[in-house]
Amino acid sequence: MTEPFVDLYTRNGFAGPVGTILRSHYAPPYARVKGTYAPRRMDVHAVAEELFRSAGELPVAVLEADDVSIELAYRTEGSSTAVRNVLADEIHYILEGAGRLETDFGVLDVTAGDFVLLPRAVTYRFSSISTPIREIIVVTGSEMVLDPQPPVALDVARHVDVPAPNPVAREDGPFEVIIRHGSDTTTYTFDADPMPCIGTGEGPVVRRFSFENVPHLTFEQTGPFPPKLFDDATSRVLMFNLSDRESPRPPIHHNADFDELIFYVAGPGRYGEVDVPGTIMWTPKGIVHHGPAEDVPHGYRAFLVETRSPLRLTPAGETISTLMETGMFGLFDNN
Ligand SMILES: [Fe+2]
Repeated sequence: MTEPFVDLYTRNGFAGPVGTILRSHYAPPYARVKGTYAPRRMDVHAVAEELFRSAGELPVAVLEADDVSIELAYRTEGSSTAVRNVLADEIHYILEGAGRLETDFGVLDVTAGDFVLLPRAVTYRFSSISTPIREIIVVTGSEMVLDPQPPVALDVARHVDVPAPNPVAREDGPFEVIIRHGSDTTTYTFDADPMPCIGTGEGPVVRRFSFENVPHLTFEQTGPFPPKLFDDATSRVLMFNLSDRESPRPPIHHNADFDELIFYVAGPGRYGEVDVPGTIMWTPKGIVHHGPAEDVPHGYRAFLVETRSPLRLTPAGETISTLMETGMFGLFDNN
């Protein structure tokens, strides 16, 4: 008799109880799908530049739910216009490029590989761009806390920094601040530059670290679950490091409570069928899948966002997404 295939039914993501199903067949591959609830893959470079132009300083959402969205931005020049999201925290990942990010708490010179946590109600603007910046932004109604677990997942004392106060005001006013409140915006205009900050105190609010400084870990260091970077007390949105890891291939599973989003952001190693940095893989909750091995030659960088919210494609997301197969996350031909 051949070994049975194990399919894990998991509650509450990595934290909850697991039910094991034994099958004589390999469950993930589907032959055809009709309807919208299907795994998708998208290349963030495929978004039409016109969509970014018409969005101005705001990002373009490709996946959304009531309290979370996945958004993309492409910035070719700096701006004097700022944005303040008053209903959601934002985690910005700089996929490509470099420039200056000004915030209420000072400035950060950001570059490819940086994660920046911009909690709700913090004003920010990309004031200058030295090479075009392409971003992936995770926008959450719940509070995201940088809390690496296990602690070895990121050395916060050494590798997380905060903006530096910057008292210099721009002179090219008037200045706009776009308030994001849900899907609506309201714009305030100021005669004087609203951004300069001469000092900060108390605890860190805006925080930044580079993927370069997120260590590669082994199965012995992490246990079976990927290392967590951002936590959320409501557990609606969690973020993990899913870069290459010395570990066995993950089990066939269906995640009853969380949509899974994997962002492949750097090679050179392949992650299954994926080798283009800027690829998003989305498996909606409850869909049986396997997923590629993480222990691959040459390594890669990826992060995982899990959300209890039922995501759906936006019109922009529709334009860049293709069906995905559930074994190695290759493109799927629905014929
Ligand atoms: Fe999964």
